[in-house]
Amino acid sequence: MRPQVFVTRQLPSPAIGRLAEVCDYQIGVERGVLNRDSLLAGVREVDGLICLLTDAIDREVIEAGTRLRVIANVAVGYNNIDMAAARARGVYVTNTPDVLTEATANLTWALILAVTRRIVEADAFTRAGKFTGWDFDMMLGSGITGKTLGVVGYGRIGRAVARRATGFGMQVIYCGRDDVAFRDDPRHNSIMIARQGNTSPLSQSARLDGLAARRVSFYQLLEMADIVTLHVPLAAATRHLIDRGAFARMKPTAYLINTSRGPVVDEAALVGALRERRIAGAGLDVYEREPEISAPLLEMSNLVLLPHIGSATLETRTAMAMLAVENAIDVLSGRAPRSEVRL
Ligand code: DGY
Repeated sequence: MRPQVFVTRQLPSPAIGRLAEVCDYQIGVERGVLNRDSLLAGVREVDGLICLLTDAIDREVIEAGTRLRVIANVAVGYNNIDMAAARARGVYVTNTPDVLTEATANLTWALILAVTRRIVEADAFTRAGKFTGWDFDMMLGSGITGKTLGVVGYGRIGRAVARRATGFGMQVIYCGRDDVAFRDDPRHNSIMIARQGNTSPLSQSARLDGLAARRVSFYQLLEMADIVTLHVPLAAATRHLIDRGAFARMKPTAYLINTSRGPVVDEAALVGALRERRIAGAGLDVYEREPEISAPLLEMSNLVLLPHIGSATLETRTAMAMLAVENAIDVLSGRAPRSEVRL
């Protein structure tokens, strides 16, 4: 008998075509988010589940799928999946790294440029017929050349964002997963500071495609960066990583960019920081209670808001769907999946 797979939402036809070569499948919905009851019904009596970041794959869903062998998330993030529950039942969890790195890095730069050069405001201004002639100080933004980009989370996407900084003549500082996780550990921070005292800036840098990126502690990064861009997964250590205290450390001229996960930023604190001009502006692709957005954010002009489109190109979304399908097929054919989530 062919393996049975439940796909929560319609995916691009090349991916579904590939799935059909090996498995029988059912699609939950054509568009949008599958409702809870249909999700619970869908996982019953299937061997594989292909799902999206909007599907809450919690313990109840995992336990309802008594035959489940694989949960293939069509996303690099997997905070929508109860990893402990999956592990307890011996279910593989897979994600879609790499294929979305460049698209997400590009969108991060689109946000950086949009917010610093006031692109959205300027577009609205022009459409409203307010461009009645060139003026010396019309729509002045903030330059980025010669300034410092602070990359929080130096995985695939963080590095891809950093690589692009050379083209804009920016210096790059970064902190990695441990610098974030141990940000309040005095021992970790004193090791970071001692390293900086003892070595030249370049010798303690990560060399990457000709880019010298300097590793600093999380709090140093907040204090030094002109643009703070977030590329960490959502986990206990990163929830509300950017809170009131973090905003207080940032330069008043700095911008915050978030294309990772909404709850990494305390949205109420962000509203306060923007209102009080404790930072210059922000560019957001993700929200704390997605798709809900804190009402005050909608009123603010020093902010660019996008509807979680980091990986939203036709090529990337097709590649993500293909990779998720291949992961499901791998497991259901008795092979190790090509991109298993390992904690
Ligand atoms: C992901 O893959 O985690 C993104 O947020 C969706 O593009």
